[in-house]
Amino acid sequence: MSNIEIQKSSGGLGADVHGVDLSKPLEAHLLSAIKAAWAEHLVLRLPGTRLSDDQLMAFSQNLGPLDMRPVGKAEQKSVPGNHYVTIISNVLENGRPIGGLGNLDAQWHTDMSYKPSPAVASILHAWELPDQGGDTYFCNMYAALEGLPSALRARIEGLQLKHDAGHNSVGGLRRGFEEAVNAKAAQGAIHPLIRTHPVTHRQCLYLGRRQDAYIVGLELGESEALLDEIWAAATYPDYCWQQTWRPHDTVMWDNRCTMHRRDGFPNDQQRIMRRTQIGGDKVN
Ligand SMILES: [Fe+2]
Repeated sequence: MSNIEIQKSSGGLGADVHGVDLSKPLEAHLLSAIKAAWAEHLVLRLPGTRLSDDQLMAFSQNLGPLDMRPVGKAEQKSVPGNHYVTIISNVLENGRPIGGLGNLDAQWHTDMSYKPSPAVASILHAWELPDQGGDTYFCNMYAALEGLPSALRARIEGLQLKHDAGHNSVGGLRRGFEEAVNAKAAQGAIHPLIRTHPVTHRQCLYLGRRQDAYIVGLELGESEALLDEIWAAATYPDYCWQQTWRPHDTVMWDNRCTMHRRDGFPNDQQRIMRRTQIGGDKVN
């Protein structure tokens, strides 16, 4: 029986997992140890060798049913012939991008929060990395909620947030959308601002992304001011962890209780990542 070792990061969330070979089917005891560590640390980083798309899909499916590639998203390209693995990359082939998001900074966000049933988890696997930049940062949204000043926490209790569907995490307009007149007019799913995680039963903040977010029922200016106040308190460095990628790292995160962002990197260097996501779950 192989041994697993979980090593907590020095940040506000995240852990390294050693002793697991992701290229093979997982033994039951390893899978339950990974799930327990994931619930505790929210983001797990697993080192290894380069995984094929089939191996990445097989590992990802341990966490739940795979989500198909988001339809209509010009910025997220799937692997040809594969509807479950997308490519995040700045590489061009014959003048066309092979993947999404280019080399730009990606702002704090939670994946797919603009959908009625957002993706539960995302899994990102590094194929090729730039020499500098491209780090991913994660934020612990349990800690973000617990750290809010009590008056602010009381003000947002029971409020609902509309999550803009029109822009991707680098601020680009998604295919099929036009710039909204203002955040109140933007399209997207509405979810509680404070949610309860269905596995841990702990409450956390659920912010999605700042651009064109709107707190339902408030005047636009009031919503903007309250969101700015929440965001300033939510991404406090103590709640965060900086992931500097190593070749063939696989990182899995829980979209229900974390946010992430990415540093840009020089566009004359190549970054190629493979990505899967686990199907949606209603937000309660
Ligand atoms: Fe993302």
